[in-house]
Parts: sequence; C-alpha cells; structure tokens
Amino acid sequence: MSTFDPGFLWGAATSSYQIEGAVTEDGRGPSIWDTFAATPGAVRGGDTGAVAADHYHRFPGDIALMAQLGLRAYRFSLAWPRIQPTGSGPANRRGLDFYRRLTDTLLDHGIQPRPTLYHWDLPQPLEDAGGWAVRDTAERFAEYAALAHEALGDRVTHWTTLNEPWCSAFLGYATGRHAPGRREPAAAVRAAHHLLLAHSLATEAIRDADSHVGITLNLTHVDPLSTAPADLDAARRIDGMQNRLFLDPLLRGAYPDDVLADLHEVTGFGHVHDNDLKRIGAPLDHLGINYYAPMLVAGSTTPVQSAYVGSPLVRVADGGRPRTAMGWEIDESGLLELLLRLKADYPAVPLYITENGAAFDDVVEDDGVHDAYRIAYLDGHLRSCARAIDRGVPLKGYFVWSLLDNFEWSFGYGPRFGIVHVDYATQRRTPKDSARWYAEVIRRGGL
Ligand code: FCB
Repeated sequence: MSTFDPGFLWGAATSSYQIEGAVTEDGRGPSIWDTFAATPGAVRGGDTGAVAADHYHRFPGDIALMAQLGLRAYRFSLAWPRIQPTGSGPANRRGLDFYRRLTDTLLDHGIQPRPTLYHWDLPQPLEDAGGWAVRDTAERFAEYAALAHEALGDRVTHWTTLNEPWCSAFLGYATGRHAPGRREPAAAVRAAHHLLLAHSLATEAIRDADSHVGITLNLTHVDPLSTAPADLDAARRIDGMQNRLFLDPLLRGAYPDDVLADLHEVTGFGHVHDNDLKRIGAPLDHLGINYYAPMLVAGSTTPVQSAYVGSPLVRVADGGRPRTAMGWEIDESGLLELLLRLKADYPAVPLYITENGAAFDDVVEDDGVHDAYRIAYLDGHLRSCARAIDRGVPLKGYFVWSLLDNFEWSFGYGPRFGIVHVDYATQRRTPKDSARWYAEVIRRGGL
C-alpha cells in the first residue's frame, strides 16, 4: 500500500505574513494583520509579524533547505500590500521584484512555485473602505491578481486565488478573532460571498492558455454526536457553513437552500447579484483542501457564541481523541471521509492537500528536535491520502503545513507547526526529525 504516483506533487506550505517579516520594506503598505496585531489583546503575547521568520531576507537559504529536503513544490502567498501598497493603483515594482527573485530561485532549484494570491493580508486602506463586506473589494482583488499574473505569469503556471475564505469571512468579521477583528455576523455572510466573487473575477483576469487556477478551502468531516434529531441538525448546519457554503457555489453554481434558510435570520442575500453564481461556478482547474481535524457536533439547549452565525444552538463535542498543541483532535480518518465525500457528491476536479500538519510542544535538544508525534500525525494523514487515491479520488499532491515554524495568527509564535524549527532570537533553522522523515518519504515516493 501507499505508493503514490511518480508525478505526485510533494510540497510544503507557508504564507506571507506568517514568515516574511520586513513589513515596512521596499514600499510594502500596511495590511489588516499589521493593524490587528498592534491592537492590545488581539494576539497572544502581543506578537506581530514584523520580523517573523525573516524569510524576506533569508529566502535563498530557505530555498536551499527546501532543495535539500527534496521538495517538488512550494506553496507560498503573495502579500497584496507589497504589490499594491494601498490596495489599488499601479504595481510597486520592488514588491514584485521580491516575488520574481523568489520564484526564480525556486525554479533554479527545480521546485515548482505555487503562489496563493490572498492568505489574509488585505491592504488596510481597503478595509477602511469596508473590507470584504463590500463588493468593491472583489473588483480590487481582480485588478491585483492581474498585476501579479502580468509580472509572474511567465514563470508561474499554477495559481491559487484565496486561502480559506471561511476564515477570512467568519473569523475576521463574525468572531473578530482574526483581522480585521469585526463582530458583525451579517458582514461576515456578505464577506463570504464577496470572497467567492473575488475568486471568480480574479480567475477570469488571470486565466490563459498557460495558467491553471484554483482555490483553497478549509474543509472538514462533520459527525453528529448521536442520532438524536438535534445532533443530526447540528451536523447538517456545520457541514453547511464549513463545507457546502463554499463547495456548492464553486462546484455547482448555487448556494445550498438549507444554508440560505439557516442564515435568513442573520441577513438576506440582496448582496448577491444576478450573474454572480454563474461566474463563481465557472470550472476550477484544481481545488486545494486544508485539513487538520474532523468535527463532532451536538445540539445545544443554550445559545453558543461561535463562528457559525445563524446556528447558535450547536456545540462542539469531545471525540475523546489525543489532541495537538492547538487542542485539535487527531483523526486521520476524517481526511479519508472528506476526500471520499468530495468524490461522491461533487464533480471531479484535481485535488491537492494544500495544508496538513500539527503543532506540538517541541523540545530543542543538543542534537535536534525529536518530533515523533508529528511524524505519526503526518504518516497517518498520508495513509488516508493513499487510501483515497486507491479508491479513485483524484488527489494530485500534498503540502505539509508548514515548512517553518511561524506566526500562528492570534496565537502568536507559541504554536510550532514547522517541520523545520526556527529559533526566533537567532533566526537559526534546524530541520526536525519530521523534516528528515518527510525527505525520505519524498525520495521513496511514498510511505
Ligand atoms: C490554516 C491557515 C494557516 C495556518 C494553519 C495552522 O487555517 O491557512 O495559515 O495558520 O491553519
């Protein structure tokens, strides 16, 4: 078992704000994450991405490390405020130059560049004008995408528009746990639509004979705690908000009726224009999936505050499994279930796992970081990938989250997801045992 196709794309992932640092360099403008991180109490320990893993200056060494590990592809994101410092207007050449150097260096090392256009660092002036809650932001995004494509389209073939629009919309605009920190459920629902629209407008702007365009969603497998009607309804609702609210418009060109009904009390859908769903449902060249943990949910008799706006009578239940340092339950069977469900319920589209990985409390010893627990996590999830492929799921590649320890959003630098350890005081990189293990998996082409 567990032999992957020779063309299977083995990679690792990062994102701009989480690793680059250099937030005021070469004309970069402020993003919503600079503003949010500077807000007292927003990020644990007052951490910010100002320096992060200093990848902006250290990318040549980081790419040499990727080559040593044998990575075939590298998923990273472009910081919109480096390319358009205010979110509109002409491109900032120095910002584009950074990504030109980055992609050229990757190509020199035989590593395929896989950029994501938006991994949450919205230029602050666009948030000041309403952010994702307003339609204009989607139009601006398409212009930015065109500038990025114009500059990099000769060396990048595979593009991803957005990373996890669920998080941008519901953590950013409903719970306020992510930038821009707003707590406006109706704005969150509008944001979700405008993000999908942004994806489609950007796809139209950059698709040509040489470009493959897709999107990355954070999907999960949802189980009800029991067969009690309230638990079944809870599972339907969470599956609706987490998975189908995005999958259905993208792959079937329509919002799911039950989710529209659940959201009715939060907001109407007057922000959806006539042609939007047709455009959002245009064919995708690939779909990226970020998977970390399944969800077990139950009905609740008292209202629960959560990102699942419109469904207050739902609580997350304890599946009784071991957890990572994030408190996320470890269960690779959820990934297999999810992949099989995508195959059963949606039209076939090439799939990539664009993020999968785990934070643990790593201990640095004299001779390295012995993270057997992370190896076990990755091994289990790769076995689920292999099983899915055996059962006909068109899974074409896998990207570990993350190449490097990095800024884990509102949790700051505490959680370490890297297969490479970063000492933030010295910026020294130390490959963990999991990095050596992953290099061996790639070398053998499987487990
Ligand atoms: C995902 C994000 C990524 C990282 C991981 C742990 O939701 O896309 O940036 O924070 O979670």
